Formats: sequence, structure tokens, C-alpha cells
Amino acid sequence: MKESFNLRNVEFKNRILVASGTFGYGDEVPDLVDIAKLGGIVTKSLSMKPRDGNPSPRITETSSGMLNSIGLANIGVHKFINEKLPTLKKSNSTIIANIAASSVEEYCSVLELLDGQEGVHGFEINVSCPNVKEGGLSFGTDVKLVSLITKELRKRTQKPLIIKLTPNVTHISDFARACETEGADAVSVINTVIGMSVNINTRKPKIATTTGGLSGPAIKPIALAKVYETCNAIKIPVIGIGGITSWEDAVEFFIVGASMVQIGTANFINPATGISVVEGVKQYCEKNGFDDVEQIIKSLQTDKTISIVDSWL
Ligand code: FUM
Repeated sequence: MKESFNLRNVEFKNRILVASGTFGYGDEVPDLVDIAKLGGIVTKSLSMKPRDGNPSPRITETSSGMLNSIGLANIGVHKFINEKLPTLKKSNSTIIANIAASSVEEYCSVLELLDGQEGVHGFEINVSCPNVKEGGLSFGTDVKLVSLITKELRKRTQKPLIIKLTPNVTHISDFARACETEGADAVSVINTVIGMSVNINTRKPKIATTTGGLSGPAIKPIALAKVYETCNAIKIPVIGIGGITSWEDAVEFFIVGASMVQIGTANFINPATGISVVEGVKQYCEKNGFDDVEQIIKSLQTDKTISIVDSWL
């Protein structure tokens, strides 16, 4: 059974990755979780300088979901290279460095520093964090800026370049097309959905920045619709993210067209979720007579003439 997937010049041993911000730098997971079994690890977002992030409280649980406003807290790219990458390199995993920045120049500088590092196999560019005033959504909701960032980064690397898109726009497919045109190898769909939660006793928002990013099972139907829309608009691979907690969820994303998936919030409940998804997807394929996961991708049985989403494309 073929589980592997190639993106540009990199082979992923399977199509199940762990999402940025939910797996640290790959060094905080219990020894029992064999990260080498995953298709890859997407690091926490890295910026040029270390960031403390937003004031607390910055996480709260909601119905079937989690609202966060971490504010891109991270150790900075230099400390990552010196203190985290040496351990990650030994893990026999495919490492995708996620980059966040507050200017086009910062994206370029961080990518250039990481591009020379042997243990970094590719990049995911965060233009979609809903929790910062500079960068994040102010880039990710402007199609011209998304184009510019993709174009500038493409000039600077031959490694896989993945752009992580926000669902907080009318038509995510417009942004995906811009990424494809400017040379991205894939897009990740979706980052979190802007959300809010209120304490009725204090009448205060439950997180300090008032709004945050909603993730977890609550957003899975939104993510599936955005992945479907994107997959029908572009030819480059789409990496599906949003509320995946089981292999059945991952298979749904493959059927609508995702070429790979990322497990996010579920890692906070069980950091071995990704490994059970890898095993479950394999068993599903074997049981149903598929000898390559590719055979289920974009296999949705739908009547495009009455599909609303297809009329946007
Ligand atoms: O607040 C945060 O650090 C979230 C980042 C993101 O959703 O990309």
C-alpha cells in the first residue's frame, strides 16, 4: 500500500502531518509518541526575533472547539536553529518550518536563514494568524500581498513552499489561485476561524484580546467546504486542516480533494492522534481495495450542476 507523497523535491512518508502551534518544536512530546511515524512535523511559527505573544488568558475551551490568542509567541529563528533543530534532525522526520512575520522583508530574512539549514525540508508561510495587529490577517486577507509574499519567497528557495490560508475571507479560492500563480507548491487550508467567548458573570471576554482563533471539531465542516472550494480552483496540492480528530475525519478531507492533512487541536488531547490517523487511513485503504491513498483523493460523488460552491469557481 503506497502511503508516501512527493511535494517538489521532498518525499513525505505518509500524508499525515502535525499542525503548527500544536506540537511545539517536536521536542516536547512524550517518548511514547514515535514522531518518525508521522508524515511530517510543522514547527511552531518562527519570527526573526523571539516573541512573548499576547497577554493571558489566551486559551479557552468552547463547544467542540478551542479558542486561542497566543499572538505568535516563539523563541525566534536563531534559537530554533541553535537549540531545537539539532534534536529535530535526529528524529528521522520531515520538518516543515512555519514562518510568521510582520513585514515582507522579515518573511524573506527568516526564510533565507532557514533555507540553508540541512534539517529544514520545506516551509509553511503563516499569512493567516487572526491574533496579531501587524502581519497575520492584514496580509492574509489582501490578495495582492499574498501574491507578493509568495513571489518574493519563491525567488529565495528551491524547497517546498506552502502558504497557509485564512478562512476569514469570502472566497478562499481567490487567494489559493494567487499562490499558485506565484509559484507556491501547495496551500494549507484552513487556519483558525475568528471567534469569541464571553464570561457572563464578569461580562468580560474569556480571552484577553477579545477575539481569537477557533479550532477543533467545531470548524471541521467549514474546513471541508474551504478545502473542496480550493481543490476545485487550483492544480497544486491542498493540505487540509481543521478539526481532524480521527482517521475517518482525515478520509473525508482526502475525498473532498486534500492531498495531505494536518492534525492540530487534537494533539492537545492526545499527541499520538496523528499516528492513529496514519494507521486508520492505511487500514481503510486496504479494506476498500485501494493500493495508494491517491485513489481516494478528490473522489467525492457530487452533482456539480446543483452544488452551490461550484458556482463560485
Ligand atoms: O495566536 C497565534 O499564535 C495563532 C497563530 C495562528 O493561528 O496562526
